[in-house]
Amino acid sequence: MVNKDNKNIISALDVGTSKTVALIAELKDGGAFEIVGFGSAATEGVKKGVIVSLDKASEAMHLAVDAAEKMAGRIIESAVVGVSGNSLASSEQHGGVAVADPERGVSADDMRRAAEAAKTILLPPDKQVICTIEMDYTVDNHSGIKDPRGMSGSRLGADVQIVTGSTAMTQNLMRCLMKLEIGIDALAPTPFAAGEAVLNEDEKEIGTVIVDIGAGTSGIAVFKSGVLRKVKVFPVGGWNFDNDIGIVLGASTREGERLKIESGIAYVDDRVGSEPVKIEHVSGEKEQQVTRGMLCQIIHARAMDLMKMIRHELETDMPISVVPAGVVLTGNGALLEGIREVAEQAIGMNARVGKPRYSGPHSDLVSEPGYAAALGLLAHAARLRSISGARRSDAASSSALIRSVAGFFRGLFNK
Ligand SMILES: Nc1ncnc2c1ncn2[C@@H]1O[C@H](COP(=O)(O)OP(=O)(O)OP(=O)(O)O)[C@@H](O)[C@H]1O
Ligand SMILES: [Mg+2]
Repeated sequence: MVNKDNKNIISALDVGTSKTVALIAELKDGGAFEIVGFGSAATEGVKKGVIVSLDKASEAMHLAVDAAEKMAGRIIESAVVGVSGNSLASSEQHGGVAVADPERGVSADDMRRAAEAAKTILLPPDKQVICTIEMDYTVDNHSGIKDPRGMSGSRLGADVQIVTGSTAMTQNLMRCLMKLEIGIDALAPTPFAAGEAVLNEDEKEIGTVIVDIGAGTSGIAVFKSGVLRKVKVFPVGGWNFDNDIGIVLGASTREGERLKIESGIAYVDDRVGSEPVKIEHVSGEKEQQVTRGMLCQIIHARAMDLMKMIRHELETDMPISVVPAGVVLTGNGALLEGIREVAEQAIGMNARVGKPRYSGPHSDLVSEPGYAAALGLLAHAARLRSISGARRSDAASSSALIRSVAGFFRGLFNK
């Protein structure tokens, strides 16, 4: 397979704890895209969102990428890649520069330089910048400007959200990608990506929290005034529910997952009866029975614990009232019956399960909330491509936002 023209092609890769997803899309006018390739493979070698076996993780990535490439009839040369794990942290930073040509007004290059200035933060060697999300700009004394291009002024300030993470974690991800000969257009935190896939502009503007419940992690992303304000990943996900069930009922974690999916409800109300549920003992020898109520109590306890932890985290740096649009649940952990009600009770806000907003070709393949992150990475890729296109056509701009993989690797290893 050889690509004739990659100008309008974008790709995304989400290496989750339980599944790895590769997507290929064609860019359309106005930043829209249409999926042309989809691949999903069971992941091994990833724990709590972080690669712990290069060989096993690469194999899952290879399978997902291969399937997507076969479907699209073209190869993935580079992709926007999701990053997760509890080393992720975010902070707001400010940078300022003099406008190069005040008579012509603010240029895209001024914006890039101001954002670069905001990025220069001191980090310990085991941490590095994963991505930078531009929030808004200040031209002289006017703050809160989303697109200052062409505006008159002599000084430009940029407020950016900087997401950092463990250097080792990122380098392991990059080693797998190098093996597959896939370049990196950009890295992005998966909870942020999930938000990009399921939230509309109003929700992002008013204030919404994404809670992405995967197999090994639960990530939160706070959107406010149209942009990301906070991201955080907890090393607790669907697997912990399965493990709790297994430990309490003497079953394997795999059996715990089966019970959770087939009979589990996280919110204990009159839906939960006392009907018997059959369980295979961890030895595989005998079958035992418990009531469904007992199973659901175990699930409820873990769900409450998780949601209270999320509420506590949200309250550490902002009042809950900052996000009046409430909680949107993504990840396939959001498919657990009753999890929405537990989120409402523990966090004290409205909650809904987020469906990917993509409705183009092959939307049926990515309709579950577990595909939100991969789809959001694609949306992020489309946005970056349109910014880099606009900047390339700006005479003042000398650098594109999408870096070649060689430059990206150099940058990371020199930090
Ligand atoms: N119908 C269901 N009811 C309850 N839980 C479900 C259901 N379907 C899948 N899950 C759970 O969803 C989890 C997997 O979610 P997802 O595919 O979003 O994770 P991931 O992206 O691979 O992992 P992570 O984001 O943590 O790295 C598993 O724990 C699985 O048991
Ligand atoms: Mg995930």
